[in-house]
Order: sequence, then structure tokens, then C-alpha cells
Amino acid sequence: MVKNYIALVVLVSGIYILFAMSKEPSVSEYNIPFNATTMESDAAFNMMMDVVMHPRCINCHPNDNVPKQGYDSHPHYFGISRGPENSGFQATACTTCHQSENNEYSGVPGAPHWSLAPSSMGWQGLGRKAVAERMLNEKLNGGKNHEELIRHMTEDELVLWAWEPGVGVNGVPRELPPVSEEDFKNAVKEWFKNGAIIPSE
Ligand code: HEC
Ligand code: HEC
Repeated sequence: MVKNYIALVVLVSGIYILFAMSKEPSVSEYNIPFNATTMESDAAFNMMMDVVMHPRCINCHPNDNVPKQGYDSHPHYFGISRGPENSGFQATACTTCHQSENNEYSGVPGAPHWSLAPSSMGWQGLGRKAVAERMLNEKLNGGKNHEELIRHMTEDELVLWAWEPGVGVNGVPRELPPVSEEDFKNAVKEWFKNGAIIPSE
């Protein structure tokens, strides 16, 4: 009886430790209380860039022709690459597998018009200042002015997918960006309102 009880306690605590160890950094660890609407420009910039630099965004904004996958941004399996229109090649068109929403059974992520960001919008491997400069450069960003960038960042389905990334093929939920969707939207608006100034240091 006592033996069984001890065995049970050992088992349960073992499972608990395994579970605790397997946890990725969670959103709550970054959830520092603040009021995004009264944020300083640099704070808004940093909060915005914490999201932009996250694999959920960078995986579609590579600096080569290969989309990336996962938290470690490994090259996309099955030799998938950009193709002439950033949406793959005929046999491997992105939308052959990526539907307009996540497939929770197969683990294929999905959102409307799933495709790779054009090469001029490649950010992977760059620092946050360089990424921000590219992002604002109308010659590289698809001719978007500040208004259009705000709209893209707060409304585009591919951007918003980052907060609903579904589960991977391994059945494990994909990691969320370190800032909540609402805080990110506020940070974006705040940073542009303050003139979209990239901090110098
Ligand atoms: C599934 C792929 C995909 C994901 C995921 C994705 N993007 Fe993009 N992104 C694109 C594509 C495609 C374009 C080009 C769309 C256009 O120009 O209308 C783009 C364009 C952009 C642009 C405008 C271009 C520029 O350089 O300013 C911004 C800003 C942007 N994405 C931000 C983000 C952010 C922030 C995230 C994550 C929260 C993200 N993207 C996630 C595919 C993606
Ligand atoms: C043969 C099917 C297939 C095709 C075609 C395909 N993908 Fe994927 N893609 C997948 C699967 C499956 C996953 C999920 C992998 C996982 O969870 O480990 C995935 C994951 C991704 C991710 C990872 C998202 C993240 O943040 O982890 C991106 C980005 C992506 N695909 C972009 C593309 C783009 C862009 C194209 C077209 C150029 C494309 N894929 C074509 C099957 C495909």
C-alpha cells in the first residue's frame, strides 16, 4: 500500500518535472505591465520589433529563396522554394498544402494568400535597425507609406496569423510572439504616430 503510494508520488512528480522542463518561454514571462497608449517612441519601437524579429514573422521573410519553419527557423522541408511569384512552383505551390486556415490535424499552418514575402522584404539575419530601415523603405516594401504599413501590420491576415499559429506536425502548439496582439498593434500605431524614428544606438 505504502509502496504503491510512494510509486505514485514519484511518478506524478516525474511527469510534472518533465512538463515544466519542456515549456518554452511563455508569453506571461514578457507580460510586463505597461500602458501601450502612453509609451515612449523607443519603447514602442522595441515592443514592435520584438514581434517582427520573432520566427513566426521571419520564417516568411528569409534572405534567400527558402521559407523557414519552426522556432529554430530551419529550411522548409520537401525542398520548397520561392518560385517566380513567391508562391512556390506549380507542383509545390504553397497553397497545395497551406489552406486559408490552420489544419489542426495535419499541422500545416494556414491563412489566406499564404506566400513568401518578396526578396526585397527579406529580413532574416539582419539586426532590428536594419530590418526597420528595410520595412520603411518604399523601394523595398512594395511602395507602402506609413498609413499602409500601419494597416498591413495591424490587419493583414499573414501578420495576424502569428497569434494563431496552430499546432505543428508534431502536435505541439507553435510558440507565440513575445508580445500580445493588442500590445503589438498599439506599439505599431504609437511608433508611427511619433514619427517612426529608429533609435540610434
Ligand atoms: C505566411 C508568410 C508570412 C508571414 C507568416 C508573415 N509575413 Fe509579412 N509579408 C508576407 C508577404 C507575402 C508580404 C508581401 C505582401 C504585400 O506586399 O502586400 C509581406 C509583407 C510584410 C510587410 C510589408 C513590407 C515591408 O517590408 O514593410 C510587413 C511590415 C510585414 N510583412 C510584417 C510581418 C510581421 C510583423 C509578421 C509577423 C507578425 C509577418 N509579416 C508574418 C508574408 C508573411
Ligand atoms: C508539400 C506541402 C507544403 C508545401 C507545398 C509548402 N509547405 Fe510550408 N509547411 C508545410 C508543413 C507540413 C508545415 C509545418 C511543418 C511543421 O510543423 O514542422 C509547413 C510550414 C511552413 C512554415 C512555418 C511556419 C512557422 O512559423 O513555423 C512556413 C513559413 C511555410 N511553411 C511557408 C511556405 C511557403 C511560403 C510555401 C510556398 C513557397 C510553402 N510553405 C509550401 C507544408 C508545405
